[in-house]
Amino acid sequence: MPSSARIATYTTSPTTYQRQMYNYTAISTGIVLLEFGFKAKNPSFTWHLDDVSVIDINASGIEMLLNGNFEAASLVGWQIACSSQSCLSGKQSSLVQTNCHNSSNCYEGACQGNYDYLHQYFNVTIGHIYTLSFWLYTDGDVKQEAYVNIS
Ligand SMILES: *[C@@H]1O[C@H](CO)[C@@H](O)[C@H](O)[C@H]1NC(C)=O
Ligand SMILES: *[C@@H]1O[C@H](CO)[C@@H](O)[C@H](O)[C@H]1NC(C)=O
Ligand SMILES: *[C@@H]1O[C@H](CO)[C@@H](O)[C@H](O)[C@H]1NC(C)=O
Ligand SMILES: *[C@@H]1O[C@H](CO)[C@@H](O)[C@H](O)[C@H]1NC(C)=O
Repeated sequence: MPSSARIATYTTSPTTYQRQMYNYTAISTGIVLLEFGFKAKNPSFTWHLDDVSVIDINASGIEMLLNGNFEAASLVGWQIACSSQSCLSGKQSSLVQTNCHNSSNCYEGACQGNYDYLHQYFNVTIGHIYTLSFWLYTDGDVKQEAYVNIS
């Protein structure tokens, strides 16, 4: 989507998640990086991400991600990039147990004023189509930004 496009609306109550789905076609065989970036208004107006999935539709729909629903006790499979020093409030994004989609844990993008990043690597095969889907909720305002990229 163009970076200027608004694709998610925000709510404060009730918690309303929206599902996003995109196809990615691998242009070579090897490892790729899935990256989410979140910028919050402040630690109270944030993003929530849950139930992330990458399905290889050319390989019987196998799931490529580890711990895409964040239900492991820690962020197994994922890395948070960018330290809390870049976040104006000092609070960076993390695994949380509040306002999640349909289970116990989710990821909260809480970095004020700057992006911080959530990463996971996975292997792709040239020509295969991968369907990325995830559920997103924000209780922020129009100044907040988020993006997702596979490269
Ligand atoms: C992804 O590609 C498949 C196969 O072409 C198609 O059926 C599906 O609707 C596409 N999904 C999206 C989100 O574009
Ligand atoms: C949570 O949502 C995901 C994505 O829709 C779904 O695959 C999964 O079955 C749901 N889990 C529960 C416990 O409802
Ligand atoms: C990708 O494939 C290589 C070679 O098979 C393997 O060593 C590596 O662990 C895989 N990486 C991931 C993230 O699956
Ligand atoms: C993957 O699946 C899509 C949709 O069915 C198809 O168009 C494409 O040719 C397939 N790619 C390979 C490498 O088989």
